Amino acid sequence: MKKSIKNICCIGAGYVGGPTMAVIADKCPHIEVNVVDINKDRILAWNSPNTEEIPIFEPGLSEIVKRRRGVNLFFSTEVKEQIAKADMIFISVNTPTKKRGVGAGKASDLKWVESSARQIAKYSKGYTIVVEKSTLPVKTAEVIKSILEASQSTSHNEKGTKFSVLSNPEFLAEGTAIDDLLNPDRVLIGGENKEDIELLSEIYYEWVPKNKIIKTNVWSSELAKLTANAFLAQRISSINSIAALCEATGADVREVSRAIGSDSRIGSKFLDCGPGFGGSCFKKDILNLVYLSEYLGLKEVANFWESVVTLNKWHQHRISKLITKKLFGTLSEKKISILGFAFKENTNDTRESSAIQICKDLLEEGAELFIHDPKVNPEQISSDLNLLPNNIKSKANNQNSKIKEGTWNSANSVESALINSDAVLILTEWSEYSTINWKKVSKLMRKPAWVFDARSIIDPKEVLKSGLNLWRVGDGVI
Ligand code: NAD
Ligand code: UGA
Repeated sequence: MKKSIKNICCIGAGYVGGPTMAVIADKCPHIEVNVVDINKDRILAWNSPNTEEIPIFEPGLSEIVKRRRGVNLFFSTEVKEQIAKADMIFISVNTPTKKRGVGAGKASDLKWVESSARQIAKYSKGYTIVVEKSTLPVKTAEVIKSILEASQSTSHNEKGTKFSVLSNPEFLAEGTAIDDLLNPDRVLIGGENKEDIELLSEIYYEWVPKNKIIKTNVWSSELAKLTANAFLAQRISSINSIAALCEATGADVREVSRAIGSDSRIGSKFLDCGPGFGGSCFKKDILNLVYLSEYLGLKEVANFWESVVTLNKWHQHRISKLITKKLFGTLSEKKISILGFAFKENTNDTRESSAIQICKDLLEEGAELFIHDPKVNPEQISSDLNLLPNNIKSKANNQNSKIKEGTWNSANSVESALINSDAVLILTEWSEYSTINWKKVSKLMRKPAWVFDARSIIDPKEVLKSGLNLWRVGDGVI
């Protein structure tokens, strides 16, 4: 075993690999950290001279990259070279839901994890600690280990390589990644080899209090990560289901959240109703849990967790149907302003954003959408909706589009989005939307006009005073 870790390699320069390694480099100046990726453009962006142009927007990240890049933090495509130099290798690659084959639609696709393991097996030298940072199905460490061990047993292996596999799932949330990494509720490390667990713990001891580092076995660690996401998502589906009940009964879901959240056994976090949960992980990780349960013959367990995802989808459709109904049953020739496309504030990530499903529904009804988001670029929105915006549509042939009905335009300001609109729908809780001057903007809209607030971020009194109709998720009182 190694006495200390001097060189770390992280495979995968994504939302997890980039910020996590930046924080490790910042807190451990004695360690050289190399983040590698097969995506050349992403690496190019991580190396852009202006750190404001790095590929991931996270408050506080660009400052850290500015401080450490070229000092002890490096981004490159030199996968082979950096694996060979490393004492410890983090696997932070994507693990999306499988699109075809056995387990399609539910199980995680471990293609990228497997290829990382094979690269490690091929290029690493000496004793190497392999750390699973990606979210993985239970017992993946066993798969990684068997790939690594197979390389040791071949006659080609004269390098004397030995491996140890640890699970160290990441709990950061996008938009608050740096703060979550600097002040984690806990760091979870699963493994068999106590000395290696200690070596990984020593990295975290540089800034995380010892009592926040939980050490356990590998499978409990892998399952704890899936369970944490499943529990969080379950709370959101629970409160969104109650929101529908509130609208039908004249109650206010915010009051219900406040009342139940003050019970210390329930707690107040993750009880905000919204347009449904998005993000790259909740749905994927729950479906992974569903697949695992089905595989193990635990049908009722699988059904229980699957209902969290079903409710989320139902809730998204509920919102688009409700908008159509309030706008007299048709959206054809109606202009709707969409405020926010990211799956939450402070991120440019749109993966599984509820905005995608809701906008697709509205487009199917024939609406003309004007979409504004302070961080998401129009190319991303086009790709998510599989539809070019009107602004550039005339220049390109849009035959690939599956949606024939509505159209969309990219709006570069809130006001330009609102001109002549019949309704405005708030889908992301960007703070700039909470300070909209409704008295002023109501004059821009075509009457009768509606405000649909799916994030509960605006003052209902201000909206109603300005002569606009208002719907808020879970508000049966207005
Ligand atoms: P991502 O898609 O942003 O980044 C993954 C990167 O890995 C990509 O840039 C890809 O090119 C690279 N890659 C894939 N295979 C490679 C290989 N063989 N060699 C080199 N590079 C390779 O993904 P992400 O959001 O960072 O998520 C990574 C993992 O972390 C997933 O398992 C996810 O579930 C988990 N996770 C994500 C978050 C989050 O907030 N996004 C939080 C906690 C955990
Ligand atoms: C989530 C978890 O919070 C992280 O701990 C985990 O590491 C990560 O998934 C992961 O494994 O990828 P993230 O998806 O980045 O993080 O963001 P969250 O803050 O959890 O929000 C997820 C979705 O739920 C967003 O669409 C958000 O708007 C929604 N949400 C969240 C609500 O609708 N209500 C709430 O009360 C909280």
